[in-house]
Amino acid sequence: KKPKNHILVIFGASGDLTYRKLVPAVFDLYNKDLLPEKFAILGVGRTEFADDEFRTKMKEGIQEFANTSKEKGCEKNIESFTNKLYYYSLNTKEEAEYKDFKHHLFQLDEKLKTDHNFIFYLATPPSLYTIIPEYLAKQGLNIEDDGFRRVIIEKPFGYDLQSAQALNASLLQNFAEDQLYRIDHYLGKETVQNLLVTRFSNGIFEPLWNRNYVSHVEITSAESIGVGNRGGYYEGSGALRDMLQNHLLLLASIIGMEPPALINSNSIRNEMVKVLQSIRPIKEEDVEKHVVRGQYVPSTIKGVKVKGYRDEKGVDPESRTETYVAMKFFIDNMRWADVPFLIRTGKSLPTRVTEVVIHFKHTPHHLFSEHSTIMQQHNQLVIRIQPDEGLLLKFGMKVPGSGFNVQNVNMDFHYSELSDDYLPGAYERLLHDCMLGDATLYSRGDAVEAAWKFVEPIQKAWVNNPDIPVHGYPAGTWGPDIADSLFEDEHLSWRYPC
Ligand code: BG6
Repeated sequence: KKPKNHILVIFGASGDLTYRKLVPAVFDLYNKDLLPEKFAILGVGRTEFADDEFRTKMKEGIQEFANTSKEKGCEKNIESFTNKLYYYSLNTKEEAEYKDFKHHLFQLDEKLKTDHNFIFYLATPPSLYTIIPEYLAKQGLNIEDDGFRRVIIEKPFGYDLQSAQALNASLLQNFAEDQLYRIDHYLGKETVQNLLVTRFSNGIFEPLWNRNYVSHVEITSAESIGVGNRGGYYEGSGALRDMLQNHLLLLASIIGMEPPALINSNSIRNEMVKVLQSIRPIKEEDVEKHVVRGQYVPSTIKGVKVKGYRDEKGVDPESRTETYVAMKFFIDNMRWADVPFLIRTGKSLPTRVTEVVIHFKHTPHHLFSEHSTIMQQHNQLVIRIQPDEGLLLKFGMKVPGSGFNVQNVNMDFHYSELSDDYLPGAYERLLHDCMLGDATLYSRGDAVEAAWKFVEPIQKAWVNNPDIPVHGYPAGTWGPDIADSLFEDEHLSWRYPC
């Protein structure tokens, strides 16, 4: 499906996100013939660039980062695509400059016949998320009488409940909710979307997807790298804000949601929000019992010394910022009452993997218990979000020979076997959806606030109670051992994917 003719305006066009992700993703769309006939990107930033300089720089980004740029004969397409790129230099904090900007935008629109349709992508620091929409609105660039006007913003959407509410209120003063597209790139991942298909198109899973058959749900998002050169940002964020409040709670809401009435933006997002609103709040005094935080300390991996978090650039040498968080929570509704959801994320762990594991209850009577461990009796459905995208079902089989020895075996599907094509990147999918006016895979304001509301007591407990430990874990290990204590059954522990 092709979007209407339009101009994609990228604020922050001289930054890394534009160079590595946005322009390469739009190029991939172009290469697949998914852009409208009349289309342009107008990069906006403080740095002065001529159109040609901008094009040359973006060309490098495309060559390095676009998924399709290595395809045969692609050079010609890169050339014709980059001719659609323009640049405008603007001090985004200066309201007075927006009048000329609007004039320039309409001139370009006139020249290219893009039908007055504009998307404004804010690839800027979050401090500009209130300023740019306000100044655009003051120029009437929020009014949709002669074409569409959409705004895309990237997380973080606030740093706590109050600031998230303030941000939403400010955005809504200038644009309507259906003009706002809040990117959580996890929703753009093919395998996250496949969760909906796995659940709602298979007769074998959905009937079991509830408290009667599921013992617990585990969600892991592990990264093997540390914070690298993002220490300055990360110090003010930590794993709770950086990953858990958004990406992981979003995954939990897809796992937990009721079937939507329809596959459309409102139906799906209504169901996701209900899950977030049903998560049992963790009281401030219970935080230590339900949430574990950790920070990586120096270690040696395969003979190589690895830095601890406090030695990273831009990090306070006495920092108590968590680079790991694990927690247990419950969703108080008919489907999930009393089923623990265990989620964890961390930097500098042994491997990069994001997966969801549905642990099913054992059979009511343990006929073969002598011959199998408790872990083996659990059927598990492992949904690998990345990097080796796929589905794995674990179940018990009899070991051939005498007796009834039971062994866990795997039924394993890898996305790579489905087609030779690459999996479209999150930005490619999300940008295309926004161009089409489909906000299904974007976070809605109420969901963002519900997620902040849930994490707020944790943030408060950590600030108000310095006795809650920040457990050190050697870089390259699976985080603090104490995170295993979140499981209610002493025989259970996290899955340790390799
Ligand atoms: C970002 C976080 O939102 O997600 C990063 O700010 C993190 O700290 C990244 O590394 C992880 O994304 P992905 O797609 O690599 O799992």
